[in-house]
Amino acid sequence: MNIIWHEKAKQFHLYNDEISYIMYVQPNGEMGQLYFGSRIHDKEDFTYLSHRGAKSMVAVDAPEENFSMELNRQEYPRFGSTDFGAHAFEAEYADASRVSNCRYLSHKIFAGKEKLDGLPATYADEAQAMALVVTMEDPLTKLNLELSYSIFRDLPVITRNVRFINRGDQKIILNRVMSACIDLPDQDYEWMQFSGAWARERIPATRKIERGMISVESKRGGSSANHNPFIIVKRPHADDFAGEAIGMSFVYSGNFLAAADADTYGRLRLLMGIHPDTFRWPLEAGAEFTAPEVVVAYTDKGLNDLSQTFHSLFNNHLVRGKWKNKARPILLNNWEATFMDFTQDSILKIAAKAKEAGAELFVLDDGWFGKRDDDYAGLGDWVENPDKLPGGMKELARKVNELGLEFGFWIEPEMVNPDSDLYRAHPDWAFAVPGREPALGRHQYVLDFSRDEVVDYIYDMLYKVIDGANISYMKWDMNRALTDVYSKGTEPELQGCVSHKYVLGVYRLYEKLIAAFPDILFESCSSGGSRFDAGMLYYAPQAWCSDNTDGADRVLIQYGSSYGYPISSIGAHVSAVPNQQTGRSVPIQFRADVACFGTFGYELDLNELSDGEFEQVKEQIVFMKKYRQLLQFGRFYRLVSPFETDMNAWMVVSEDKKQALVGVYTMRASVNGLDGRIRLAGLDEDKRYHINTCAYYGDELMRAGLLLDAKNALNYKIYQDYSSCIICLNAE
Ligand code: GLA
Repeated sequence: MNIIWHEKAKQFHLYNDEISYIMYVQPNGEMGQLYFGSRIHDKEDFTYLSHRGAKSMVAVDAPEENFSMELNRQEYPRFGSTDFGAHAFEAEYADASRVSNCRYLSHKIFAGKEKLDGLPATYADEAQAMALVVTMEDPLTKLNLELSYSIFRDLPVITRNVRFINRGDQKIILNRVMSACIDLPDQDYEWMQFSGAWARERIPATRKIERGMISVESKRGGSSANHNPFIIVKRPHADDFAGEAIGMSFVYSGNFLAAADADTYGRLRLLMGIHPDTFRWPLEAGAEFTAPEVVVAYTDKGLNDLSQTFHSLFNNHLVRGKWKNKARPILLNNWEATFMDFTQDSILKIAAKAKEAGAELFVLDDGWFGKRDDDYAGLGDWVENPDKLPGGMKELARKVNELGLEFGFWIEPEMVNPDSDLYRAHPDWAFAVPGREPALGRHQYVLDFSRDEVVDYIYDMLYKVIDGANISYMKWDMNRALTDVYSKGTEPELQGCVSHKYVLGVYRLYEKLIAAFPDILFESCSSGGSRFDAGMLYYAPQAWCSDNTDGADRVLIQYGSSYGYPISSIGAHVSAVPNQQTGRSVPIQFRADVACFGTFGYELDLNELSDGEFEQVKEQIVFMKKYRQLLQFGRFYRLVSPFETDMNAWMVVSEDKKQALVGVYTMRASVNGLDGRIRLAGLDEDKRYHINTCAYYGDELMRAGLLLDAKNALNYKIYQDYSSCIICLNAE
């Protein structure tokens, strides 16, 4: 790993064993991109990779007449230049002009990686990463721009972010701030996005890049179930096992824009950042603004490799604290078992049965506070309801602990019901445009987390509930999108800052709670998986993946989520049948075989199961306890796509390749075919692996394939709907 500055050619080369990223100071002083891809040798000068010879009808930048920004790849293109593509930033000045011209001023290179104040970001020590900060300045307005880059030693990853500093004496308004721009020299790519809606999150969709713009976005306040802030561009023939691809993940949980701009000269521009429609940030003289981080990963070995890079990066350089790389507790959550209709006694009965099954953690979901018996009331009143919890959270936690389980509970701190003491006392703390009725969502308003006093007040209430009770886990929910975003505690001129400041408020509350209770395992949630993003993983190492707990649908949702997010982060539970969202009844084995490629737990009352099913649950928990470290942190491969076939198969392999687990699932049986066979991945070619009473070499299993017959795949019936199994491989 190194970052080299070639003074004469004014070029930077960031490289590690796998990738090179080369950029330079263009003839007009702005930063240009020269190369991003597999590692290449370092050289004094890569100028030939830029394009000279602009025709006169193409706008040309002085002083070099044949140089055009439009025909060259840019690092951080501005509005109003001779680059007519989608721009990375736009600043507005006192005279209403919006053209900037930031030119290279200086740079610094150092070992390690800087923290971003108040924002989530990947981290690394001095041996694990190197950083480059390029400072640019607009000579007229003294707007300074710091383009930051980090390269990791062991991963094909570059991270980027941007800081604006107003070193002039006039106020500057930032209208658009993307966090990263990657210009590529050709357009022979497909665009992959992960889109959906509530209960069908992160479904992969691929389309060919053609000239023009492609984009996905969120303007819902959170990153959203509709479009995930993670995209891939891949070569048309690239698949899970081979080919070139670039992935971009936004380490941010609010409104975002991710776009590809394929211009008519053949350049492809990728942009990712805060959505400009909900952003307007005045910078007083001397003030600065830091944009969130974007992670850019590269592969020439296919999408499994790309996903593994994100998994490893997030597990090792994003998740922090006690739960980093630690197998997750097997929990039982009472939501689908009771909804809000419970008493302490009914809860303890469910918890006792969970303990008998072997679970380790009990989670009390919504309904324990205020007047919360349905979703019309109570949000904002974070005080235990004495009718349900006579001795408060403290007593319930103690009683659950006495059963031999850890204890955790649910909160939704960003919200308030109009029918709540909090709203009655502080109606101005909810977002609403003066004189207008704000929209309700799930009968609730959104609290104005852009205001410190609101965040601090909620923190104090939560602190009182947690403090003194023995709390190991918290599920932080967020059940509606932001609308009517207007802060009554903010002057009109700064209303364009509110959406971003809201997200900063969410991060601040997380940070305060983590500082006070560092051992608590947080699980983020937003009506299921509506805020499943890299930003959240910095605070909450796992995220409830979807409110759709139907095993068959979960295959699709977890498969889609695996492209960008580690298995350790995918909140997955077994729930009752018929499923509450789909009405479908999938065998309990299938439900568990899907959930164990996730954090694993149960979302039902185990007292209601038949004896036979309860025995199965006990076995599932024994299995999960034995293999969870491997399942959650092993090298994960997608093998057979449920979107392209009637099956699903995926596997994990241990770091030393001595152990592997293969999950096989029939979604829809077809009759009268050949025996099923799947080609495995990631094994050691020369090792002999035992599967039940058989043994095979790794190369056989990866090239000839594993036969899904009764000897290898016990109890699995490929020709039966929702049959599944997990096959264990152990090397000699
Ligand atoms: C959301 C969550 C659920 C549950 C309910 C409680 O829908 O996704 O898991 O916690 O809220 O109201």
